[in-house]
Amino acid sequence: MYCVNPIFFLFFPPLLSVTRMHNAASVSASLGSVGLLRLVGVSWSWTLAAGLGVYLGTRSWKYFYIAARTAKRDLNGLYVLLRVKLALWRYMRSGSNIPSIFAQTVKRHPNKPALIYEATGETWTYTQLDEISNAVAHWARGQGWVSGDVVALFLESRPLHVALWLGLAKVGVEAALINFSLRCDPLLHCIGVSESRAIVFGAELADAMLEVNSSISQSMVRFCTGDLSAERLAALGAQPLDPLLATASRHPPSPCVPPKGMNDRLFYIYTSGTTGLPKAAIVVHSRYYRIAAFGYFAFRMHPDDVIYDCLPLYHSAGNIIGVGQCLIHGLTVVVKRKFSASRFWEDCIKHNCTVVQYIGEICRYLLSQPVRPSEKGHKVRLAVGNGLRPSVWEAFTERFGVGQIGEFYGATECNCSIANMDGKVGACGFNSRILPNVYPIRLVKVNEDTMELIRDSRGLCVPCRPGEPGLLVGRINQKDPLRRFDGYANQDATKKKIVHNVFRKNDTAYLSGDVLVMDELGYMYFRDRSGDTFRWRGENVSTTEVEGILSNVLDQTDVAVYGVAVPGVEGKAGMAAIADATGKFDCGGFLQKIQRLLPSYARPVFLRISPQVDTTGTFKIQKTRLQREGFDPRLTTDQIFFLNGRAGRYEPVDEELYCSIVEGRLSL
Ligand SMILES: *[C@@H]1O[C@H](CO)[C@@H](O)[C@H](O)[C@H]1NC(C)=O
Ligand SMILES: *[C@@H]1O[C@H](CO)[C@@H](O)[C@H](O)[C@H]1NC(C)=O
Ligand SMILES: *[C@@H]1O[C@H](CO)[C@@H](O)[C@H](O)[C@H]1NC(C)=O
Ligand SMILES: *[C@@H]1O[C@H](CO)[C@@H](O)[C@H](O)[C@H]1NC(C)=O
Ligand SMILES: *[C@@H]1O[C@H](CO)[C@@H](O)[C@H](O)[C@H]1NC(C)=O
Ligand SMILES: *[C@@H]1O[C@H](CO)[C@@H](O)[C@H](O)[C@H]1NC(C)=O
Repeated sequence: MYCVNPIFFLFFPPLLSVTRMHNAASVSASLGSVGLLRLVGVSWSWTLAAGLGVYLGTRSWKYFYIAARTAKRDLNGLYVLLRVKLALWRYMRSGSNIPSIFAQTVKRHPNKPALIYEATGETWTYTQLDEISNAVAHWARGQGWVSGDVVALFLESRPLHVALWLGLAKVGVEAALINFSLRCDPLLHCIGVSESRAIVFGAELADAMLEVNSSISQSMVRFCTGDLSAERLAALGAQPLDPLLATASRHPPSPCVPPKGMNDRLFYIYTSGTTGLPKAAIVVHSRYYRIAAFGYFAFRMHPDDVIYDCLPLYHSAGNIIGVGQCLIHGLTVVVKRKFSASRFWEDCIKHNCTVVQYIGEICRYLLSQPVRPSEKGHKVRLAVGNGLRPSVWEAFTERFGVGQIGEFYGATECNCSIANMDGKVGACGFNSRILPNVYPIRLVKVNEDTMELIRDSRGLCVPCRPGEPGLLVGRINQKDPLRRFDGYANQDATKKKIVHNVFRKNDTAYLSGDVLVMDELGYMYFRDRSGDTFRWRGENVSTTEVEGILSNVLDQTDVAVYGVAVPGVEGKAGMAAIADATGKFDCGGFLQKIQRLLPSYARPVFLRISPQVDTTGTFKIQKTRLQREGFDPRLTTDQIFFLNGRAGRYEPVDEELYCSIVEGRLSL
């Protein structure tokens, strides 16, 4: 037991002094408050227990080695956590909500640009954004909508999108932010599950509305923003919104009754599950605050930063990580209607952007652009997002001269977010090895084929050791707003994401559905979307790794790698869908290059050359359809090739070759 004390004292004096150094004012101002003391007290007792656990569990030199390598990172993480907790706790106590936090931001700098719309150059100052959202609030109240009603928003990204949901929130009405790329059935599904009383759509989406017009309930009121002819408005049974907003009062509305607090619903965001139709995830005010504030503090943003937000506003990355910095922290946000790889750096220069957002494949699209002088002439120092592949990480920072990558991991609806705060290449975040219980996330063992948790003899989950891939889970504690899980509008969907008896008996935890790996220092790496490895010739093939290598070989074109079943053959054969619009794909040259870079089991057995590879609205490559179609040449007009190992070349797959493979006459 005597070894406890040295560790305890080693760790804590620096903790307090660093916290103070970082933010003397806020810590000393609040040290008097019982809340923070309690909070720190809790962390201490956890920490003591946890530190002891690791210390006794490992050889001491290793403990000190890890502590020395990670202390700075961990203290910074703890500082960010405390900072956000403290602010949230204060907002809770004062009965704030997102509109009232925004009102304070407006007061701080009424005339600073809040939102800039890149398409038109239109700039809204904080006062303007406030007044337009007030007009929205008065209009909404005039419609008879009250606290708790839901209104669907279906329009492309533009500042009015923000004014609409913010204005609705001012009178307690919750917006359902609908993906503007949806059409027909998925669109109807999203409108339906939101149980909206009304829908506001953009004139640019009138055609999509017309397709579903007759299936939408007649009682749903429709408003259109933008220019649309009187006949088309009549065909949709819609009223023009803009004149109504222009004549509405711009003064602050009276508070809504009952008032909305940090734990109440703000809006709904739809998350595209790996299976099935999109689910509406509930975003409460505290969650909005928490996600935005984590981004702000973890990546050390500054009120003078200008953010380039080219991500859709129906999604949490664009609307919370991006726009949230405007509403809460007073940063100017440039809203781009649609991502454009060729305009990206020029836009950043034009608006003096210092922070850009990315998601999924965006960085690779930028790398595939021809070199332009503008790509180094910008002032961008930080790129924030998720899904940056390790294979392009350094190429991206070096070529474009972006100093810091703020890679994070976290779903809209989960509380198990992690962030890479110190620029460790390839990592999407970390958890402290020394004080693992301060942040109750864990990697637990899982059967990666079925995604079922593996449990020990007591029925609890088995934590992973460094290097072992595991499912990320986050402990749920409904009392602590940082650890809340607000679930989905749909109760069944909520249940599927919650498990019991994870860390200890009778606890509950959120299942992220993603498999990560932690290294010895606690850095976490995204392994793969669930099920994104396949076995071939007794080896595990990681689709992301192969995609990264193929894409590098092919000048960053889109590549999707997946496994396809071949009758009578064990495992899955690798198949790569490659985007090539020229129609002259050089199989021979390609094979030569990959033979040097990939072991034989990882080389794609089949190639599918498509004019383009489907991506999702968030720039992730979609594979379900590709996987279903496999290598059957009758199902597609794309060219399909087969790697004939004996002949050492790729050969076109026609019906005859297809049949001989399926019937086992040709061995792979
Ligand atoms: C669209 O729906 C509205 C409201 O239900 C209705 O008034 C209108 O006639 C419909 N338009 C068409 C073309 O069916
Ligand atoms: C960008 O910064 C430069 C130099 O600091 C300044 O002259 C210019 O007006 C700024 N542009 C915008 C759009 O703020
Ligand atoms: C995630 O949410 C749950 C329940 O709301 C909470 O108990 C858990 O601690 C959270 N995890 C983290 C890492 O915040
Ligand atoms: C777990 O819950 C069961 C039933 O509610 C109860 O009997 C048991 O004592 C609880 N165990 C612990 C460790 O809290
Ligand atoms: C492949 O993964 C499975 C578990 O998914 C594991 O049991 C096996 O050992 C791995 N094989 C290799 C060669 O890494
Ligand atoms: C938006 O809808 C499009 C079209 O269905 C889909 O591909 C995309 O994944 C959706 N985006 C999100 C974030 O759900």
